[in-house]
Amino acid sequence: MSRIATPRRYLMCRPTYFTVEYTINPWMHPTVPTDNALAVRQWTTLRDAYRSLGHRVEEIDPMPGLPDMVFAANGATVIDGIAYGAQFRHPQRAAEAPAYLDRLGALGFETRAAKATNEGEGDLLLTEKYLLAGTGFRTEHAAHAEAQEVFGRPVVTLQLVDPRFYHLDTALAVLGDTIAFLPEAFSPGSRAVLRQLFPDAIEAHVADAEWLGLNAVSDGKHVVLPVQATGLAEQVRAHGFEPVTVDVSELLKSGGGPKCCTLELREK
Ligand code: ARG
Repeated sequence: MSRIATPRRYLMCRPTYFTVEYTINPWMHPTVPTDNALAVRQWTTLRDAYRSLGHRVEEIDPMPGLPDMVFAANGATVIDGIAYGAQFRHPQRAAEAPAYLDRLGALGFETRAAKATNEGEGDLLLTEKYLLAGTGFRTEHAAHAEAQEVFGRPVVTLQLVDPRFYHLDTALAVLGDTIAFLPEAFSPGSRAVLRQLFPDAIEAHVADAEWLGLNAVSDGKHVVLPVQATGLAEQVRAHGFEPVTVDVSELLKSGGGPKCCTLELREK
């Protein structure tokens, strides 16, 4: 099977102020020290990996007091030139939403502020035919309906059940015309829906998901994923993709991986 890469445009935020100072997911332990310089180096390697694959990377200025702003995927959802804003579940991240919408407006996207609680591409993942929408921990069901109206794309609601995989993008990765996902992270009904919609999906193993291996970014051919997720790298290779591994171990201390750092900007 030969896979075809298409050039992408991403938005990223340098982790200048990254640290773990509050707990809003089971990965975050404020008593465990973080190494900010290392986080910046790891992030820079990820950004440069996208550039060497031929993708464009825009940046947004990091803001002091917003240690999770590095997780750009949560800042909005951008499809067909429209940026549907985030509305964060936790007050610690609330100020990120307007900052991302301002930046997206400056980049020329049409911005729509959200009424319903949603954490951007953390829970809203676009496939060829559907907008897959997670709920259970962060994004509320009402945002799925709101996103469907904003984008005019059929939304498929998926129920997340494991608090370690609190965002859809920690439990499922979009890879070209298929997906990889961790079945156990979904309710039985949602698992059945995924198997029906994507009969050739890669079913990942928990050992890889625990390194946030599913927090991966694909351009249709390459799959950028955490270096520790060795089993998943072999699975994607067996499906005709080319794994590109990165080490973002510092960001994992906040419950984030490569995809969390990456917001895809889709033009009209
Ligand atoms: N500490 C951040 C939070 O809990 C991590 C966000 C990870 N982002 C993602 N797209 N999964 O909100």
